[in-house]
Amino acid sequence: MDKLIIRGGNRLSGRIPISGAKNAALTLIPCALLTEEPVTLRNLPRLADIDGFQHLMTQFGVATGIRGNRPEDFGRVVTYESGHLTSTVAPYDLVRKMRASILVLGPLLARAGEATVSLPGGCAIGNRPIDLHLKALEAFGAQIELTQGYVKAMAPDGGLPGGDFDFPVVSVGATENALMAASLTNGTSRLFNAAREPEIVDLCNLLTAMGAEIEGIGTSDLTIHGVKKLNGATYKVMPDRIEAGSYACAAAITGGEVRLEGACEADMHSTNTALRNIGVEIESDKHGMTVRADGPLKATNLSTAPFPGLATDMQAQLMSLLCKAEGTSVLKETIFENRYMHVPELMRMGADVETEGRTAIVRGPVDLTGAEVMATDLRASMSLIIAALAAEGETQVRRIYHLDRGYERLEEKLQLVGADIERVGDE
Ligand code: UD1
Repeated sequence: MDKLIIRGGNRLSGRIPISGAKNAALTLIPCALLTEEPVTLRNLPRLADIDGFQHLMTQFGVATGIRGNRPEDFGRVVTYESGHLTSTVAPYDLVRKMRASILVLGPLLARAGEATVSLPGGCAIGNRPIDLHLKALEAFGAQIELTQGYVKAMAPDGGLPGGDFDFPVVSVGATENALMAASLTNGTSRLFNAAREPEIVDLCNLLTAMGAEIEGIGTSDLTIHGVKKLNGATYKVMPDRIEAGSYACAAAITGGEVRLEGACEADMHSTNTALRNIGVEIESDKHGMTVRADGPLKATNLSTAPFPGLATDMQAQLMSLLCKAEGTSVLKETIFENRYMHVPELMRMGADVETEGRTAIVRGPVDLTGAEVMATDLRASMSLIIAALAAEGETQVRRIYHLDRGYERLEEKLQLVGADIERVGDE
């Protein structure tokens, strides 16, 4: 298995191109199941999770045509053709590798009148149930059965009538499943307390381009007037705000100056506010953002929350940065119950962090030192890379398949700005 070797201490400087957003792509791809016509997505990141989802789509008889597949291309263009669905079953073997597979449930049900999807099972960052996905679809008139580890959803003859659902907890995935299903129903559906992450807006924009009628885009109350048929569309995936935020932390921890080409400040307000409070300068224009940290870093208190609050997917990376900030920072993780698994690894690199339940206290600044580390999820792995960039000596990061799931050409992008990082095969 490959590992990354990072020799810390280089000040990052230069330009990093930001890729298409993984989490947007994972809900845009299943939209192709909603129509017989081709759906073309541009700016798809080259990531293991996207390849996995593509594989899942072929399971339903979807033909995919890929352009932009040369090694030097950033951002692929993929056309999905779902003229005739040959299966509505998502088997365990494919779903267990990628939780986002549950996002085929809503579109398959709405298009074919039935769908059988394996339950995703546990996950390193918490239990992550799917009850809200199922309750929303039930509210639209679906019948749901759980049997032998599978969810079987069925629509009445003639299709889903649609209905109203009030989310007791804000859920990105459940909102996405509900939006995709509600777009292709016989009636009007209303969603209350829906997630309003930028990735949800991206989804609504694609659905609208496909002929869906959605009111309230960008707010937590959405009204969807179902239509009988959706058409194909060509759509460009939004920039990855978490990737951009991660590289902003990487630049800042080295006291560097990096231009994040294509990053969109409007999607990153909470992350950028946190970074500015820490003492990082950020300038943005319509083509990207420049991040500069030439003064001392200051401690700050942070709490994750649904958008427009601070993304839970930025918590680990900001924690690494706070290890180099003057003073005591208090972090609260309100979305997932088990998302401090990077802490013991950061402590092995010299971090001073104490956790109690959902709270973490970070004392800084500390001298970080290189170590052999490994992480159990994607963003946790990135937090170790960020710490390693500022650490004295060499860090070896193992289990980097997590990073390959979510960061397109990580080491290449960091090398572009002067990091000493290389991927080597494990002996
Ligand atoms: C998505 C993102 C993930 C991000 C998360 C929160 C994708 C592919 N993944 O995950 O990167 O960290 O949003 O921003 O887009 N919940 C329930 N029942 C449900 C669904 C969720 O109780 O049916 C709970 C979860 O346990 C969690 C909270 O709701 O505590 C938020 O989860 P959710 O927004 O659904 O996360 P995902 O869509 O899985």
